[in-house]
Amino acid sequence: MKFFIDTANLSQIREAQDLGVLDGVTTNPSLMAKEGITGNGNIIKHYKDICEIVNGDVSAEVISVDFEGMKREGEMLAKLNPQIVVKVPMIEEGVKALKYFSDVGIKTNCTLVFSSGQALIAAKAGANYVSPFIGRLDDNSTDGLELIKEIRQIYDNFAFKTEILAASIRHTMHIVNCAKIGADVITGPLSSIKGLLNHPLTDIGLKKFLEDYKKGN
Ligand code: E4P
Repeated sequence: MKFFIDTANLSQIREAQDLGVLDGVTTNPSLMAKEGITGNGNIIKHYKDICEIVNGDVSAEVISVDFEGMKREGEMLAKLNPQIVVKVPMIEEGVKALKYFSDVGIKTNCTLVFSSGQALIAAKAGANYVSPFIGRLDDNSTDGLELIKEIRQIYDNFAFKTEILAASIRHTMHIVNCAKIGADVITGPLSSIKGLLNHPLTDIGLKKFLEDYKKGN
């Protein structure tokens, strides 16, 4: 299972990279804006900076909503670094762009996926990753994990190579449950990833071990 961090914050990306468990980064225009990264020049420089920190895939989202614009932007982004994965929204023009990028060997991540039908057509179009937003579904009284299960079944039925990238992770148990269901990748905030480390019995046990060691020395 791959771990991606869902942020444009360079120090958090560095911290996850230093932990040694990071396989990639996902960004989106809102995450860029949150870090105060605006304007095409700055955004492009930021993608390059992220690629310097991590070894794996870095998703960079197109802003265009028409095929020609997505094609132009995606080709420009893909040229920045071989790690770049072009993030394309799940709309009709986006499906055409996914197919085009797949034909020319540019890696893609189909974003804003909220149904198994959308995941199916993204896989048919040759997306490398499909990003179901499980937290946003949960926020709308719909079980996001159920969607991951459905997509897993559909992809396994037909041996689709598209990887399920569970996105919009809100907490650590989302990650654990995605692992149980068989999502190929999760992308989440650093806090959710580091939450996997936590257990009070570990802290209590370590404290006792260290105290007992000191008693004997
Ligand atoms: C996925 O690539 C998106 O960046 C994402 O996970 C959005 O999640 P949010 O619902 O926390 O904004």
